[in-house]
Amino acid sequence: SNIQKLIEQLPKAELHLHIEGSLEPELMFKLAKRNQVDLPYTSVEEIQQAYNFSQLQDFLDIYYAGMSVLINEQDFYDLTIAYLEKCHQQNIRHVEIFFDPQGHTERGIAFETVITGINRALNDSQQKWGITFKTIMCFLRHLSEAEAIDTLQQAKPFLDRIDGVGLDSSEVGHPPSKFEQVFNQARELGLKLVAHAGEEGPPSYVKEALDLLKVDRIDHGNRAMESEALVKRLSESQMALTVCPLSNLKLCVVDALNTHPLPAMLEKGLLITINSDDPSYFGGYLNENFFAIQSALNLTEQQIVQLAKNSFTASFLDEPEKAKHL
Ligand code: HPA
Ligand code: ZN
Repeated sequence: SNIQKLIEQLPKAELHLHIEGSLEPELMFKLAKRNQVDLPYTSVEEIQQAYNFSQLQDFLDIYYAGMSVLINEQDFYDLTIAYLEKCHQQNIRHVEIFFDPQGHTERGIAFETVITGINRALNDSQQKWGITFKTIMCFLRHLSEAEAIDTLQQAKPFLDRIDGVGLDSSEVGHPPSKFEQVFNQARELGLKLVAHAGEEGPPSYVKEALDLLKVDRIDHGNRAMESEALVKRLSESQMALTVCPLSNLKLCVVDALNTHPLPAMLEKGLLITINSDDPSYFGGYLNENFFAIQSALNLTEQQIVQLAKNSFTASFLDEPEKAKHL
């Protein structure tokens, strides 16, 4: 259809993408074999059957298990270049990718191995395809703030390759307030700041992310819609929200895509972007997220164009770089 072609052809940025969540079952098997890692699955079909989640934690358990095949620098390169090749195919011109260093350092993989593999792929894709990038290191919120501070310390030799910090993993019970000190330290280092908030957690977690962590963007933010005061504040400040439709569906954050809060979010004047979160686990890359939400909600061409533009507006590109895309 015309709207499908529009989605495919529009230049887009992706701002909420966990690189470890782009690990496709085929690559998982290939790396398991290469590294002699045992997987609890014997076929791609078995993996796909396991990807049946009723909440965030169901996914996280499988996501951390999947990471176990990533051992060497080349593994992180292969993972990242596969995602960037998809971006090239989908006309994604800029990416701001998350990685979870603690998911690897906990298993004895050096921080340097992780960042070097990811960064080499990002540089190659910029050379080959012109895809620009930022890199955001996330702290695992189910771990302690002391461990996050230690991770920030380990990142210090590599800050030329890191643009920001984020906060992900199990949300409920791990409010942003738990990470106020490490976000203060990251801010002092000149890093951009983002946090997952209001995916499963209450609106007060979104408020804490703004007031205590002083974030530059909110990841997800769905449950901010429950607070009129918060919606007003997000709208007036044009604080970006990185919305992930297929993720929301698969993790049962919404019952169905046709009841997704996106129309209300746009109606309230929020700066909304569309993203894939963990495309291998949630059944679609960025264009598939656009196709699914467009058809479920009958979004107009004008709304699709706006969402694509928002992805650059909400990015951490500098103003002249943004202007080239807008
Ligand atoms: N939420 C929280 N943590 C995550 C996610 C998510 O959607 N994806 C990867 N880690
Ligand atoms: Zn996420």
